[in-house]
Amino acid sequence: MTQTNDSRQRPTLATVNADAEPRLIDFHPIGDHRGWLTAMEEGKDIPFEVKRVYVIYGTLKEISRGFHAHRDLEQLAICVSGHCTFMTDDGQRRQEFILDTPNKGLYIKSMIWREMHHFSSDCVLVVLANRLYDPTDYVRDYAEFKRLVQGAKA
Ligand code: TYD
Repeated sequence: MTQTNDSRQRPTLATVNADAEPRLIDFHPIGDHRGWLTAMEEGKDIPFEVKRVYVIYGTLKEISRGFHAHRDLEQLAICVSGHCTFMTDDGQRRQEFILDTPNKGLYIKSMIWREMHHFSSDCVLVVLANRLYDPTDYVRDYAEFKRLVQGAKA
């Protein structure tokens, strides 16, 4: 482990477009002879104000999670151990992201249906969010999700 990076090249908010589709944001691992460290700073690597952090771990074999969208929520999902598959659906396009490194975060805005599959037993998924937990923000019915996104476009 000889590679050394520093944080001088970090993007600023101007280069992190919060309106973009679900997409991976690259962080900047700092490696030295001791190992690795990755920092994420609000306004630089995280394109929103962080109000909540939750962690998904200990997911049992063959269990999938998610199956919902949020009406008004931005999130950044970072797999800090193991791996999982994160599926996003904006009502027209489905995408699959393999999350398997602490050096990338999947940025997801509002009204994106998400499902998480294929968790490794050591998977630890850290999720940052711009709002506190609110059960009324969830859309858990896929048909309702489709109606809402189609209605928003009409
Ligand atoms: P849920 O969002 O349904 O999990 P997933 O989509 O990954 O399957 O949350 C599971 C439970 O945890 C549910 O009872 C709500 C609760 N919860 C909180 O209390 N706070 C939180 O920030 C989150 C994300 C969930």
